[in-house]
Amino acid sequence: MSQEGTQGTSPGPPEDAVVTAGVVAAGKRGAASPGGAAKKAPAPAKIVQPVATAGPQPLNITRRTFFSSLGIAWVAFTGAMSAALTAMTRFMFPNVLFEPPMSFKAGFPSDYAMGVDERYKEKYGVWMVRNEEGIYALSTICTHLGCTPNWLPAENKFKCPCHGSGYYPSGINFEGPAPRPLERYKITLGDDGQIVVDKNTHFQQEKGQWGDPGAFLHYVG
Ligand code: FES
Repeated sequence: MSQEGTQGTSPGPPEDAVVTAGVVAAGKRGAASPGGAAKKAPAPAKIVQPVATAGPQPLNITRRTFFSSLGIAWVAFTGAMSAALTAMTRFMFPNVLFEPPMSFKAGFPSDYAMGVDERYKEKYGVWMVRNEEGIYALSTICTHLGCTPNWLPAENKFKCPCHGSGYYPSGINFEGPAPRPLERYKITLGDDGQIVVDKNTHFQQEKGQWGDPGAFLHYVG
């Protein structure tokens, strides 16, 4: 009898085990959808791998690169120093316009023949003119716009190349747009007997100054 009972029932898990399994299964189902509104299990936290940040890279300077950079820097430095030195030199020695002195010795009266002498035209801008009574120093500046006239011995006149003004040997204007005669400079005799011309003093014919002392050097040689 005991064998039948044993054979008639298939061996299975004990009842408590079945109940426990049912509860566990129900619990799993309940966890999946408890009452139709199952809560999802929280997703496992992702593991964030640290991102490598771009830090200072090690300088990869070769010996050749280093000396090349050094050479460029030296050239730049030398250029800058040269420019500074040049500027300083120009500051120390600025452009200076060397003009002839306003007063000069013009030799002895006996050095002059009758007529117009151009020996001081280029350097001092003066014509020395001698006539029967003496010597005077005539300005080479045209009274129109300041050009330098030419002495034309064949025509016995000064002729301005700019606008055609003409002057007699005395300096009196007679043709062209020149508004007045050429000016004369102060002329005297120095202690050594030489003529001294002083361009600081002008004499203008239209102002009646040609008769002033110093406007004419009386000489009869
Ligand atoms: S500047 Fe001499 S004529 Fe004009």
